[in-house]
Amino acid sequence: MQTLVTAPQGEGIPLWLATDASYAALLQSLTPMQAAWTKAQGFASDRHRLQLLPDGEGAVAGAVLGLGAKKSVDELSLWDAAPLPERLPAGSYRLATPLSAHAATQFALGWLLGSYRLTRYRSVPAKPLVANSLIAPVGADVRYAHAAAQAMGWARDLINAPANELGPEELAAAALELVAQYAGHAVVHTGETLTREYPLIAAVGAGSARAPRLIDCRWRRAGAARITLVGKGVCFDSGGLDLKPSAAMLLMKKDMGGAACALGLARLLLELGAPIELRLLIPAVENSVGSRAYRPGDVWRSRKGLTVEIGNTDAEGRLVLADALCEADAERPDLLIDLATLTGAARTALGPDLPAVFASDPTLAQELAEIAHAHADPVWPMPLWMGYDDELGSRIADLNNVSASPFAGSIIAALFLRRFVSATPNWLHVDLYGWNPKDRPGRPQGAEAQCVRALYQLIRRRFG
Ligand code: BES
Ligand code: MN
Ligand code: ZN
Repeated sequence: MQTLVTAPQGEGIPLWLATDASYAALLQSLTPMQAAWTKAQGFASDRHRLQLLPDGEGAVAGAVLGLGAKKSVDELSLWDAAPLPERLPAGSYRLATPLSAHAATQFALGWLLGSYRLTRYRSVPAKPLVANSLIAPVGADVRYAHAAAQAMGWARDLINAPANELGPEELAAAALELVAQYAGHAVVHTGETLTREYPLIAAVGAGSARAPRLIDCRWRRAGAARITLVGKGVCFDSGGLDLKPSAAMLLMKKDMGGAACALGLARLLLELGAPIELRLLIPAVENSVGSRAYRPGDVWRSRKGLTVEIGNTDAEGRLVLADALCEADAERPDLLIDLATLTGAARTALGPDLPAVFASDPTLAQELAEIAHAHADPVWPMPLWMGYDDELGSRIADLNNVSASPFAGSIIAALFLRRFVSATPNWLHVDLYGWNPKDRPGRPQGAEAQCVRALYQLIRRRFG
């Protein structure tokens, strides 16, 4: 169902927005009966409160959404609009409160995200969506809102897909769909080629009957800035022989969250015709247990030539990323971004909603953090603290994949990746969760596409 629509000026049921500061003036603009009704209901402008306004016959003539203590309605976030599709009765609504172009776009996108549902795995359909729609707010970038909602919905669906349905092969198929839709080129490395060219990806994936692969997609544009995305595509992370306990394993279908977000970001850039040359690399594996599985104590020579001693088979993400980053780095893109559900330590530090971002250039991380905040897709900069780099030392190989110390796990993982990025001047590493642990409007419990909007905006600002 199309829920963000265009309609002639003045059509639709008016929907007002009220901050604590603008609430009194708004009451003045309603009919005396509606104002009295609003007061009688005890309605105030608290955030997320919604008041329906009747006409003389008792039909819905309007609605007011509270935004709380914001300085201005233009400070709303997309999540303010997200509850509306579920809470407004059937009908076509128009925003009666003018908004800045940015706020109008956020509102439209929030409305669309509020309609996201995961229905695929139920044989009895859940409650259907209310038959309502929002008339595109004046000034809103409707094309962006639709593209962003679509890209995020796709990424969420991929993360939500259980591992029995989405393995390395299916993840590759999803990437190839994108390549076909936007006329790109792709190579998928598997088998002996993978073993020879990408030994760490092959090693991590060796324990699974579902073959590991490196998916390499490209959308060429001569002379344009070159952006390369790398996404951790661990379709299920059992921990390998260093098996995770059950509680820690339960959500590990989402360990391809970095790949899903990279795919979503790529789709958004392509759909909106960003003037860049885009490359997307996804090491897709299952970290499994079996007689062919790689082991603690193994030493593997990486694509870069550095030998890695395996201290823990559960630190598999950094291994598959190492080979993919090495390949990405070889052609020195203008910007290299990797996205990964890399460490529990990043979650301990920042919780589920704040991806940790590490950057070779701290001003780049700062710029991203600012844009991310404005788009309600927040990230938090963390240091590539070289003082901890020696924690990656091995007694017998060039480096170990884990540190012996229990401290600074997300920083040490980032420092491990850094060893495989040596030529590219601008590198961003995003350690994200990819999951909403609780239900919120527009953000149901389950998959979350993090950093897609923030990185899209950063790329458009830097590269047009
Ligand atoms: N996929 C996990 C990280 C993870 C765990 C992300 C929980 C989100 C929630 C990763 O492969 C992993 O297992 N990391 C280990 C590294 C450790 C063995 C050094 C971790 O963080 O515990
Ligand atoms: Mn792991
Ligand atoms: Zn993992």
